[in-house]
Amino acid sequence: MFEILEIGRLGPGVNRAVISAPDIARAHRPGQFIILRAHENGERIPLTVADKDVDKGTITLVWQEVGTTTYYLGTMCPGDRLQDLCGPLGKPTHLEKFGTVVGIGGGIGVAPLHPITKGMYDAGNHVISIVGARTEGLLIMTDDMKKISHELLISTDDGSFGIHGFVTQVLQSIIDRGTKIDLCVAIGPVPMMRAVVNVSRAANIPTVVSLNPIMVDGTGMCGACRVEVAGKTMFGCVDGPEFNGFDVDFDLLMKRLAMYKGPELISLNKFRDTERGCKCTIPGGA
Ligand code: FAD
Ligand code: FES
Ligand code: MG
Repeated sequence: MFEILEIGRLGPGVNRAVISAPDIARAHRPGQFIILRAHENGERIPLTVADKDVDKGTITLVWQEVGTTTYYLGTMCPGDRLQDLCGPLGKPTHLEKFGTVVGIGGGIGVAPLHPITKGMYDAGNHVISIVGARTEGLLIMTDDMKKISHELLISTDDGSFGIHGFVTQVLQSIIDRGTKIDLCVAIGPVPMMRAVVNVSRAANIPTVVSLNPIMVDGTGMCGACRVEVAGKTMFGCVDGPEFNGFDVDFDLLMKRLAMYKGPELISLNKFRDTERGCKCTIPGGA
């Protein structure tokens, strides 16, 4: 169980792994995530199920290396096993035929956007996807997104690939050309989701965002993931992770995400000193 079957780089600091988890693959619905522990002394971290293959009994995880656990995961090799994997967790995305749905993914946010976009596509929506990153090397899963989009627009902040600009500017251009948008789904860094909501709110387009608060148990017991939505305290793990973007207190979310920066840095420095440093060759390594 939980054997890593494939692992490789999608770009600098971004990894993709295919993991044996037949029960999770079968039960998973778009929008849901898992919580894993990489080794027996490891902490619990949430990652979205970016893809799955029910016949093969596998799920795909895509993650960005930002700290101790995500760097550790990047040192794992095919044949290694994760200590445990809990899921699927969170409420599935509400999927129906809305009309035209614009999916907006920034950076690593494209991974969680992928299954939701696929669900919207399969539900008969006209899907326009906007995939953005700071620079060309950080663009991920553009081919995967192309397969499940009627229109795919790619942007980079520095203009190194696709449209030069932010995903918000691309969204604004779709609005300006007169396309009637029935729903936006935005996933990415918190400032990006807030910026998207500012554009969509001005155009009165309902907007769903997927929040990434710190999570521990993932079942509504610890309170670590609390977020404020429409003035009410909600738990990201059981009430979300998707919420009405117009109602989210993004400032509070950012503050809570930065709560443990000090200890996280100490932990990362310690990890770097003792890194087990798996030296396996990563296929397609970047
Ligand atoms: P650390 O140095 O420990 O933390 C770096 C930053 O990550 C922290 O400052 C904090 O803001 C955040 N963080 C730390 N611990 C947690 C935690 N337990 N839960 C949530 N955030 C934390 N990232 C991906 O790259 N791909 C995904 O598909 C993905 N899906 C997610 C789905 C959900 C529902 C949530 C809540 C988060 C998701 N994340 C995803 C974010 C991912 O969980 C964090 O990047 C990871 O936990 C960082 O752990 P670390 O030990 O490597 O870094
Ligand atoms: Fe503990 Fe949500 S992660 S309540
Ligand atoms: Mg950590």
